[in-house]
Amino acid sequence: MRYRAYPALAGLLSLAARTGADPTWPAATDEMEEIVYQLQGFKGRLFNDIITPCNNEAAGPGRVTASEWLRVGFHDMATHNRVFKTGGLDASLQFELTNGENTGPGHNTTLKFYSNYYSSQSSMSDLIAAGVYASVRSCGGPIIPLRLGRKDATSSGSTGVPQPQNSAETFRQQFDRMGFSTEEMIQVTACGHTLGGVHTEEFPEIVPPGTGTNGQKPLDITDAVFDNKVVTEYVSGTTQNPLVVGPAVALNRHSDFKVYNIDRNATMNGLTSAETFKNVCRTVLQKMIDTVPSGVTLTDPIAPYAVKPVDMQLTLNSGGSSFLLTGYIRVRTTNRASGDIKNVKMTWKDRNGGCASGSCSYTAAVQGAGTGFDDTFEFFPISTNIPTSSGISSFTVTVNLNDGTSESYDNNGNSYPLSDAVILQKPQSCLLQSSGSLTVSALVRNDITATPSLGISYLTPRGVVRNGNPVPILSSTSVAMTKGDCIGPYTFYSVSYTIAGGLSYAAKLSVTAGSNTDSFNKASDLAGSCATFSGTASCTTPGSGGGGGNDPDASSTVVAPSSTVEPEPSSTSSIVKVPSSSTDAEPSTTASSSSAAEPTATGPVRKQTVAGYTRLRCATEGSGVRALTGASFAYDTMTLESCASNCTGFIYFGTEYSRECFCGNSLASSSQEAPDSECNMLCAGDPTQYCGAGNRLELYWKPELATATSSAAQPTATLSRKETVGDYDFVGCQTEATEGGRALEGKFWADDGMTLEGCAEACEGWEYFGAEYGRECFCGNTLRGGSAPAPLNDCGMTCAGNQYQYCGAGNRLELYRLASASSGSSSKVKRGSRGRRL
Ligand SMILES: *[C@@H]1O[C@H](CO)[C@@H](O)[C@H](O)[C@H]1NC(C)=O
Ligand SMILES: *[C@@H]1O[C@H](CO)[C@@H](O)[C@H](O)[C@H]1NC(C)=O
Ligand SMILES: *[C@@H]1O[C@H](CO)[C@@H](O)[C@H](O)[C@H]1NC(C)=O
Repeated sequence: MRYRAYPALAGLLSLAARTGADPTWPAATDEMEEIVYQLQGFKGRLFNDIITPCNNEAAGPGRVTASEWLRVGFHDMATHNRVFKTGGLDASLQFELTNGENTGPGHNTTLKFYSNYYSSQSSMSDLIAAGVYASVRSCGGPIIPLRLGRKDATSSGSTGVPQPQNSAETFRQQFDRMGFSTEEMIQVTACGHTLGGVHTEEFPEIVPPGTGTNGQKPLDITDAVFDNKVVTEYVSGTTQNPLVVGPAVALNRHSDFKVYNIDRNATMNGLTSAETFKNVCRTVLQKMIDTVPSGVTLTDPIAPYAVKPVDMQLTLNSGGSSFLLTGYIRVRTTNRASGDIKNVKMTWKDRNGGCASGSCSYTAAVQGAGTGFDDTFEFFPISTNIPTSSGISSFTVTVNLNDGTSESYDNNGNSYPLSDAVILQKPQSCLLQSSGSLTVSALVRNDITATPSLGISYLTPRGVVRNGNPVPILSSTSVAMTKGDCIGPYTFYSVSYTIAGGLSYAAKLSVTAGSNTDSFNKASDLAGSCATFSGTASCTTPGSGGGGGNDPDASSTVVAPSSTVEPEPSSTSSIVKVPSSSTDAEPSTTASSSSAAEPTATGPVRKQTVAGYTRLRCATEGSGVRALTGASFAYDTMTLESCASNCTGFIYFGTEYSRECFCGNSLASSSQEAPDSECNMLCAGDPTQYCGAGNRLELYWKPELATATSSAAQPTATLSRKETVGDYDFVGCQTEATEGGRALEGKFWADDGMTLEGCAEACEGWEYFGAEYGRECFCGNTLRGGSAPAPLNDCGMTCAGNQYQYCGAGNRLELYRLASASSGSSSKVKRGSRGRRL
């Protein structure tokens, strides 16, 4: 099961922390801002997936992942030298996993998870700091101000992480070297030790085998809550902390006692108020993550934008006379009532600062909502055509409210810049993930004289020789682009390049010509094959009168990308496709530009009846089980009506998390009523209806069905396990590896059209394939350490591209194995065990 953030945690604290203005967009912190705040729901980055709820033991029983994230922050920082200004939070930990001071699997799994977010805009050390913020917040602790700009070490640093056997005086000296006073040493130890426990595997002398639970003894009774029990239990003498009492004492390894007792318990006695503990932890944990080597200047603490343009992109339409501008305006709705916003209007300036086309605005209604720990957001989709003759240079945003008022946002007086000088042209760019073979096409405006180059920032896994470092190497390269055809006021350029190492989908692409750039484009957004461009707009110079085509000699029909063919002279007419008129070739948009009627966005309503079902309540999931287990569906056109129809014959149906639908004839007894305000996500397919939220069901029922015959309760279509898919046989439902990483590590892709057949085809040549979480596909030749059979019921998610098939679940693989391979003896065991579970 995948966990989600609880927007209800939003409180006064966050209001106090968020009074500043937005940064001026775009900012160097934008990617991290998204990772840290845009957690779940629409466009969620899922950074908190394995630490929410706080007791999530994603890497295996006895391992509270949130505590491991917090520990990584401390271990990385603890080698800082305040005199020489070396070490500190610099991700050198990745090179120090085998030096004896950083034992246990937690550092490795944590760094491996962070590697999914590692990029030129998000250093590993900033991710470690963000992980401290996120783990503390997920566990109910304070909001630690998060500054950014850390730089990663390129090799191991000094040793010096405090170890249990050290003397009190050694601890004092070590913390002094880090820049922490005796009082701060006690505070940061207590704040760090409110989560998690000590593991037998790492410290068998302190927690002898069999004495803990799941190989672990907690440091306080609430090992998955950020509270001051670690203090109050110690002060009252009732603590079971294995670093204070128990076998550690005789061995002189009771390190927490040595630290807490060093000032005769004065500091610990000062932390017995919950409020004081929270405030002190905010201060010392911030100090911990802000301890950095010389040469690093940290930014001011970040905060989520009130209004943020997201993924803004120009794409030249076929024909060549207009661009399609796409993206989203993200509006922070934390302090707004639900449904407050009527729509969002963007108003742009053309290339010359005016509005030559006479129509320069676009109005959008909400498409989706997302959440962070303390925030909620709504996303307003932009999709509008802009003539290439006049282009675009910047825009402003107006948020129109349902009470008739509106708010204007102009990027701190600068307007939001959006240059049309250099454009990465996505349809004519492609990436074959299996080979890393990349082709990028770009458009450069004809008044730009510099030749563009493609910058590729990419990750390569380290060889096993590198002391087991799980963090890939971040490199960058720049390749010159080759000139292609001119079309209207633009010229095509393109280049091909192979990204070796298997992580090509994580690459980020920038096209730069002189001072103009279209940067940080995700390679994972590119299709597997490049589309052909067709267009007839004649070559012009911007400002010389637009794309008129009044000079027949300049007229051409182009095929791009041209890297595989020689640029054709403009007189050649190898016609690929000539649209009858340029407007015909333009994609139609769902909303209109403002010269036409604005879409009338109606505020969402809570429907009391849907297709004969009556609304029951907003309900929680069961504890550890789904509230409704009859059938489940997930798709992006979800409405209450479509879910009701999917659940025909069932007594209950409920929508959750905007795009999920569950049916059942009984409701788990642990499902509870929740306030309606918590069912606050709009349906993915109809923003005028509510579709639950994370762990919240918008629940409906048809009580008369309860008294009908039991055979009435059948879904309209049958969802069933597939015993064979192509050459593969079904093995069972399988967990991910517990040793960090994936059970199947050969190849990975994700797609909203995922089916079992599609996954099997993508994994051709591999022994296993597995579908997970509805839309993910993994291939591999072996099942990696710790992956184990799971109950079939765990694999309850349907495939994103076929609602009649199962595609695993969160952390659960719908596993298949080549029939030829499974005829061997080892597979007999697997098929046998599946048989038992069935
Ligand atoms: C500090 O508190 C601990 C735990 O309650 C206790 O064992 C110890 O004796 C105290 N130290 C002093 C100096 O009172
Ligand atoms: C970290 O985990 C990876 C597997 O995911 C393993 O190959 C590597 O050796 C581990 N590193 C250490 C130091 O244990
Ligand atoms: C569920 O409803 C959606 C939308 O109406 C539909 O496309 C889909 O086929 C339905 N699935 C089943 C199994 O009824």
